[in-house]
Amino acid sequence: PLTLPQFTIKPHPHLRSDSERQQILAAPGFGRYMTDHMVTIRWTGEAGWHDAALGPYAPLTIDPAATGLHYGQSIFEGLKAYRQPDGTVALFRPEANARRFQASARRMAMPELPVELFMKACELLVSQDRCWVPDAAEHSLYLRPLMFATESTLSVRPSTEYLFLLMASPAGSYFPDGIRPLSVWIAEDYVRAAPGGTGAAKFAGNYAAAFLAQNDAAEHGCDQVVWLDAIERRWIEEVGAMNLFFVRGHGPAAEITTPALTGSLLPGITRDCILTLARDLGHPVSESRIGLEEWRTGAADGSITEVFACGTAAVITPVGRARTRTTAWQMADGRPGPLTLRLREELVAVQTGCAPDPHGWVHHP
Ligand code: COI
Repeated sequence: PLTLPQFTIKPHPHLRSDSERQQILAAPGFGRYMTDHMVTIRWTGEAGWHDAALGPYAPLTIDPAATGLHYGQSIFEGLKAYRQPDGTVALFRPEANARRFQASARRMAMPELPVELFMKACELLVSQDRCWVPDAAEHSLYLRPLMFATESTLSVRPSTEYLFLLMASPAGSYFPDGIRPLSVWIAEDYVRAAPGGTGAAKFAGNYAAAFLAQNDAAEHGCDQVVWLDAIERRWIEEVGAMNLFFVRGHGPAAEITTPALTGSLLPGITRDCILTLARDLGHPVSESRIGLEEWRTGAADGSITEVFACGTAAVITPVGRARTRTTAWQMADGRPGPLTLRLREELVAVQTGCAPDPHGWVHHP
């Protein structure tokens, strides 16, 4: 059996005063402020996982030749802790993130952090920094696990040393305007992920490679970029750093579809929740291919009634308009659709402990 390292716990007096913290929590934005502590765990080929510690949030000392800086061995995760009605704090689906972190590590030839260690790290940090979990409705504490290669070598091969980090940041709404529908730009000049590539991993380089297309979207007055498949350049894959859903029809019989996980899409945990919640509500649900042309014509003839994006950070955000260099179209009246809002409400209710949790998603540390 695997022996897991014990954590050394070195809390320290708060970096910020109570009033500074209250001020931050009143308007946290997304990813702007880190809490007082972080978790670190090291891995080497000889010692495995060791030196697990919870200590003050502080800058790191990194060797300039660290493999992670040069050749990009770096992966991350994103998950949230929510204040529950009884005042306690619960993590949402941390085990799913732990497993995806392992899958990302495998793809990047990095060691897999045991699920128990990932969970323990999350539980310790959330307990230590629970005063940083916002009380406001729909606000949360966003946890950011990260692992990168630290071996000092310019050799082009997997590192033999890694550092795992866990930090936390209070989160309000991911988009400054909350659930204002997004306008999206179809990326025809750039590809996010190709078959056999890294698209299904939460790999740092996937995000860096998307920035230029995101700039393109902004230059065309759009909020986010929509990614097409690399080969035929016609199948919808993702939007920004989020998965995408399409609704056909109206009312209780409305059908929901999301692009299938072909290997070049990120297997979103919010995506998985939405598939489950929509099924629970009795809606027909499918994972299949959706073409750009089908989206455009479906929006025009009214058969596609709603489109929304989802992710841990943004939860569920409607898509109101789409554009390419030559065409533009709008989803229904461009306002958030009823099923989009319903699913969002259902999901947030489970996350915040305001609805039953039949699937065991809420984890009490
Ligand atoms: C998420 O929804 O958690 C994401 O993947 C976006 C994140 C990179 C901020």
